[in-house]
Amino acid sequence: MIQMTLSEVAGAVGGRLTRGDGAVTGVTVDSRAVAPGDLFVAVPGERVDGHDFLGAAAAAGAVAALTTRPDDVLPCVVVDEPVAALGRLAAAVHTRLAGAGGARGHRLTTVGITGSSGKTSTKDLLGQVLATAGPTVSPPGSYNNDIGLPLTVLDADEHTRFLVLEMGSRGRGHIARLCRVARPDVGVVLNVGSAHLGEFGSADGIAVAKGELVEALPPEGTAVLNADDPRVVGMAPRTRARVVTTGRSPDADVRAEDVVLDEAGRAGFTLVTGGVRAAVRLQVVGAHQVANALSAAGAALAAGMTPEDVAAALSAAVPRSRWRMEVTRRDDGVTVVNDAYNANPESMRAALAALAGLPARRRVAVLGAMAELGPGAAEEHERLGRDAVAAGVDLVVAVGPDAVGIADGALAVGAREDRDAEQGAVRVPDRAAARELLTEVLVPGDVVLVKASRSYGLEVLAADLLDTGAGA
Ligand SMILES: Nc1ncnc2c1ncn2[C@@H]1O[C@H](COP(=O)(O)OP(=O)(O)OP(=O)(O)O)[C@@H](O)[C@H]1O
Ligand SMILES: [Mg+2]
Repeated sequence: MIQMTLSEVAGAVGGRLTRGDGAVTGVTVDSRAVAPGDLFVAVPGERVDGHDFLGAAAAAGAVAALTTRPDDVLPCVVVDEPVAALGRLAAAVHTRLAGAGGARGHRLTTVGITGSSGKTSTKDLLGQVLATAGPTVSPPGSYNNDIGLPLTVLDADEHTRFLVLEMGSRGRGHIARLCRVARPDVGVVLNVGSAHLGEFGSADGIAVAKGELVEALPPEGTAVLNADDPRVVGMAPRTRARVVTTGRSPDADVRAEDVVLDEAGRAGFTLVTGGVRAAVRLQVVGAHQVANALSAAGAALAAGMTPEDVAAALSAAVPRSRWRMEVTRRDDGVTVVNDAYNANPESMRAALAALAGLPARRRVAVLGAMAELGPGAAEEHERLGRDAVAAGVDLVVAVGPDAVGIADGALAVGAREDRDAEQGAVRVPDRAAARELLTEVLVPGDVVLVKASRSYGLEVLAADLLDTGAGA
């Protein structure tokens, strides 16, 4: 973060400073993560109120807190809404950084990434690619909301050359608001799927919301649009920026040819753009990563990198955020694929395709429910069960009451309710039961995929499975 005084912070957020005027060198919302010199943002949450942790923040060295009321324990910058104020602080810092750099001969390039699936994966690829060209801020994890995005912006300082921001959306106006915190120079739209369909009503509604990113771009900016998704490439008329298309489509500006998967499920392809061809061999698992890599390539090219440098950096990029297609082979020869970070119909299908691509004696998919799908949820779960069988999964294990439709779908297309059947589909009530069953059925050579929506916490099961096999 750039160093600011408390009165500068108060001025930027339109707040009232109760006392003192120290220097702020960082910002955090988590009292356990406070470092000396930090401004602690007291976020009023549903279960916990950040204001209860002012003492802990002070003890850890916070210089001040952003609060809704004065408190004796620390100097406070008092505002009506700390989260909105955090956004205003990030906006002030971003404006300063985006306008700076003249003397150093370069300025900050900000990239925004949105889409229903693959934002974090793409951000992690792009962050590693841009880091080969200059100092880059692109933290691991999924900092894509009104708290995470400003915190990411505040990580940047005068030395930062590239800032990569993940932008999530749970409704109209969200991405527009994030773009007011930090207007991107390059906007990447990955896909329009059915994540949060419940809130949006329809896929077209999702497209309207995701397109706010390209609407926010300046005329000298670049919109990087996935040519393989009609709703995404259809956003082109909504931007004043130059449009670069990416994908497998032969007319995409940045495309992949000769895609192959190695036996660990990692894709290799030829990156083709502007008459240049460069070989890429991804380290991340799954064919869906080709689309993410092309989107990252489109953004990196827009930021000024050469195709050759982009191809080399993509080939060197490794998985950075947890629980996304983490493939681990246990000592006993069972392979666990932990993709339990989150799930929606598209990411489930991507994961099943990746599972199908891994060599295995038996493929087991341990699937929990997909949350927030709205009225089509029951049908989507059944379809997933059918798709799992079609993808060559030998045993479907549906975990929890919300996931029974997945087993029903598999049974409807010929799976038997028998864990030992050649083609089986079973239901278990919870993680513990799933673990028990898997301990009994898994044998060396099996590959087991674990995936569900975030709220079902199946990463715990994946971790248990790895513990089970350790040293076995
Ligand atoms: N391009 C893609 N198309 C379909 N599925 C994908 C794609 N990229 C990643 N996935 C799947 O989606 C899951 C989530 O990926 P990632 O965390 O990158 O998405 P995200 O958009 O950041 O999600 P969130 O909205 O939860 O932040 C991965 O585990 C993988 O299964
Ligand atoms: Mg994410």
